[in-house]
Amino acid sequence: MRVLVTGGCGFLGSHVCEFYGKKGAEVISYDNMTKHEFQRIGLAAKKARDFNWYFLKDMGVKMVKADVRNYEELLDHANGCNYIIHTAAQPAMTISWENPRLDFTTNIVGTFNVLETARKLKIPIVNCSTIHVYGNKINEELREGKTRYTRKPQGIDENYPILGGTLSPLHGSKAALDIYTKVYIDTYRLQAASFRLTGIYGTRQFGGEDHGWVANFAIRNVMNRPVIIFGTGKQVRDIIYATDVCEAFHAFYKTRNSGVYNIGGGLKTAISLLECIDLIGKINGKNPTVKFSPNRYADLRYFICDISKAKKELNWAPKILPDEGLSTMISWIKENINILAIKER
Ligand SMILES: NC(=O)c1ccc[n+]([C@@H]2O[C@H](COP(=O)([O-])OP(=O)(O)OC[C@H]3O[C@@H](n4cnc5c(N)ncnc54)[C@H](O)[C@@H]3O)[C@@H](O)[C@H]2O)c1
Repeated sequence: MRVLVTGGCGFLGSHVCEFYGKKGAEVISYDNMTKHEFQRIGLAAKKARDFNWYFLKDMGVKMVKADVRNYEELLDHANGCNYIIHTAAQPAMTISWENPRLDFTTNIVGTFNVLETARKLKIPIVNCSTIHVYGNKINEELREGKTRYTRKPQGIDENYPILGGTLSPLHGSKAALDIYTKVYIDTYRLQAASFRLTGIYGTRQFGGEDHGWVANFAIRNVMNRPVIIFGTGKQVRDIIYATDVCEAFHAFYKTRNSGVYNIGGGLKTAISLLECIDLIGKINGKNPTVKFSPNRYADLRYFICDISKAKKELNWAPKILPDEGLSTMISWIKENINILAIKER
């Protein structure tokens, strides 16, 4: 089996490369190495950027530094592959409104190129969408509890209307990706899926305030820095550990049931920011300090995936609960603290 992983040096992509590498597959990481958040979060950017590259290279992954916006190069490297997992993206909402052109070209043009590549070479593909496509109108359906927002029913499925509320460029580009996946399934019978992913966390996640909040909170706690919360901290997500997402990619490869899927931890992993900070503090044995900032534009205050469709059609279910996943992540952070030197703004 030969797998092409776009964005292979990113957080999720590196887990996908590792997952298929361990299965004995030939893996190609295709990444332009421009993770833009590194500059913003004040990580030791060069070290952090290179970390996943050398981690994958050392385990025998073929490393390609190239851009998904370059169709010819993509086609060339995908030739002979059996599966494409497209994780390359501009994934941060803040960057999307600061640089809408970057968001548009990376997420829309890049994904279009990947879909065209898959169509031309007849390769099954999964695209990474996000639960943000549902939009923040969901905020109007919430009650405010002591430590979290609540909603009835708790889980939200794929039939919930998309793009309600106030939209950012990221909403637009991810929804376009989602729709185009369906276009290619319907029109060209491409074996394809779009995963609407919830908050993912795990090792090798250089989490910023823009994207990767679970890791950002844990890194800050390990480094005795205050955690910064935008809004009340009662925002809820059904966080999912990276390897559970890799299992979902593989479940699609096995079943080939094309379509759009919510991929999250479901009710069992639902946690608010305040609850997550508390749990990180307990696991790490350090009392977290918290600083509050005003709500962020277009923030989605609640999302718990109803994962019934993925369970039924992909025969997949997440396994890792927050206690276990956070413990693994915190151990990794402690071992690699030298590359995680967050500067204060
Ligand atoms: N991490 C999460 O919590 C989360 C939640 C929902 C959805 N997602 C989606 O999952 C996917 C992976 O997210 P992630 O957290 O691993 O992001 P990431 O930023 O860690 O990884 C993305 C990778 O893509 C690369 N890249 C960016 N532009 C590129 C281009 N033009 N050509 C080639 N490579 C390019 C970057 O260098 C980076 O290594 C994204 O589509 C993201 O929107 C992630």
